[in-house]
Amino acid sequence: MSNIIQPEFPITRLRRLRRTAAIREMFRETSLSANDLIYPLFIVEGENIKKEISSMPSQFQFSIDKVLIECREILELGIKAVILFGIPDEKDEKGTQAYAEDGIIQKTTRAIKAAYPELLVVTDVCLCEYTSHGHCGAIEDGDVLNDQTLELLAMEAVSHVNSGADMVAPSDMMDGRIDAIRKALDSHGFENTPIMAYAAKYSSAFYGPFREAAESAPQFGDRKTYQMDPGNSDEALREIALDINEGADIVMVKPALSYLDVIRRTKDSFNIPIAAYNVSGEYSMVRAAANAGWIDGEKVMMEILTSIKRAGADVIITYFAKDAARLLRQS
Ligand code: PBG
Repeated sequence: MSNIIQPEFPITRLRRLRRTAAIREMFRETSLSANDLIYPLFIVEGENIKKEISSMPSQFQFSIDKVLIECREILELGIKAVILFGIPDEKDEKGTQAYAEDGIIQKTTRAIKAAYPELLVVTDVCLCEYTSHGHCGAIEDGDVLNDQTLELLAMEAVSHVNSGADMVAPSDMMDGRIDAIRKALDSHGFENTPIMAYAAKYSSAFYGPFREAAESAPQFGDRKTYQMDPGNSDEALREIALDINEGADIVMVKPALSYLDVIRRTKDSFNIPIAAYNVSGEYSMVRAAANAGWIDGEKVMMEILTSIKRAGADVIITYFAKDAARLLRQS
């Protein structure tokens, strides 16, 4: 930029291109579209359940019958993809429901793909919703075992794709999981199924409301031995480079808002599609302030989503997807 000739004021007046809505829209550098958005859904066992999550207003836990109705609405709004999180009835040490043939995600994926084959179904591959201890892997002596967990994650990914998932998104932060999952998918004939890696996932307090929604809070300790330290961004680039080398098709930065610099560094350093996760706490803060009348919720939502794209994200996983798609339609 520095070598671009820029005459000084009064020859240059940057306000000239801000004078009307038409001219502003013409020269807006970043635009949002419903194509960019992925909507997260929480699924529970049972029937006729649509239960609002108290810490995430307007977000729900759905039973399969109810989520099908939701998916129709999502498609009608022009949203192309959902990401599924499962809450099983039974949890155990090894999270066996994560890779069970009749697990909640497996059943939901089959039902959604049967009803709406055109809707892109992404599944979150992790164990924390399925383990009794709430950690993202197998535990020994109070620590999460890395290499043993890889096998479980690979089984989970294969079983999701077997049920019809279009894409898998591992969110566990074990070392080597992308390689393990890629090899497992390929050996089952799923070499065309993409992996969206939660590559730079931070140990963040912004996940608080999600853990209520997914009933996945760790029962002891925290996730700091596997999720990243919020102070680090050089390390994020190493995580991302490793995941790309292991075969990730899309890399994700999560959360989004406190990590826009990491999204931008990723964009400048690698030529690969980038996803950003606008997480639960980021959603709930906006909703709470809007409900209190302190901010204009819709405007803040659009500004946030635009900023995540401007930072360099190609797609955004967001609880705002439906509201944003509705607004984009009107504009
Ligand atoms: C599972 C997972 C989490 C989120 C997505 N996948 C929670 C966590 O790591 O504790 C958080 C999403 C959100 O806060 O919206 N590992």
